[in-house]
Amino acid sequence: MKKGTFIVIEGIDGSGKTTQVDRLKAFLSERGHRVLITRDPGSTALGEKLREVLLYSRQAIDPVAETMLYAAARAQHVSERIIPALRGDVVVVSDRFFGSMYAYQGWGKGVDRDLLDVVNRHSCRGLIPDAVILLDIDPALSLSRLKRPADRMESEGQEFMQRVRRGYLDMARKSPSLYTVIDASLPVDEIALQIRRMAESCLKTT
Ligand code: TMP
Repeated sequence: MKKGTFIVIEGIDGSGKTTQVDRLKAFLSERGHRVLITRDPGSTALGEKLREVLLYSRQAIDPVAETMLYAAARAQHVSERIIPALRGDVVVVSDRFFGSMYAYQGWGKGVDRDLLDVVNRHSCRGLIPDAVILLDIDPALSLSRLKRPADRMESEGQEFMQRVRRGYLDMARKSPSLYTVIDASLPVDEIALQIRRMAESCLKTT
C-alpha cells in the first residue's frame, strides 16, 4: 500500500518539536520532496475539535476516556490524511503519533498497556512510522521554556513529565531501529542538522 515515507517527531511538551518539524519541512521541500506536515491530535476537522477538548477542557477527563479520544483523533488522522498521502508518494512528517499514547497515557497516567495496544492497532490501521525522532530533554528545562499558558497535560507538572520522559526513553531503548534519540537541550541548528541527516538516511532506505 505504502509508497511515501512516514517520519514522526516525538518528545515531551516544550522539547522543541514544532520548530524542528518546520525546519525539516523546509529542508525536504528544498530537496524537491512533496511533504505533508500533520499533528496528532489534529490535522482533520474531527481531530482539531478533539484536540480542543483534550488540551483545553476545564473538566477532569478520565484517563481511559482520554485514551479513547486521542485514539479517535488518530484513527481519523490516519485514514483521512496520512494513508492517502503515503499512497501518493508524499513524505509525511507528523508532530506526534502512537508513541505519545504509550508515554503519556501509559507511563504518565497508568492506563493498561493491553488497552493501548488494542486501541493503537485499530486506530493506526497497522501503520508504523519509518522513523521516529525522539527529542529528549529534562522536564525542568522544557517546562520552563514554555512561553504560553500551560495546557491540560503541561499542567500535570514535572513528576508526570518525568514519567513520560522515562516512557519515551524506554521505548527508544527497546526499539533502536525505529527510534533516534536527539538531545533537545542542544542548539536548535545542531538539532536540525542531526534530524536532516537522519531523514536523509531514512529516505534512502524507504
Ligand atoms: P502538542 O501537539 O502541542 O505537543 O500537544 C499535544 C498534547 O497531547 C501533548 O501534551 C501530548 C498529548 N498527547 C497524549 O497525551 N496522547 C497522545 O496519544 C497524543 C498524540 C498526544
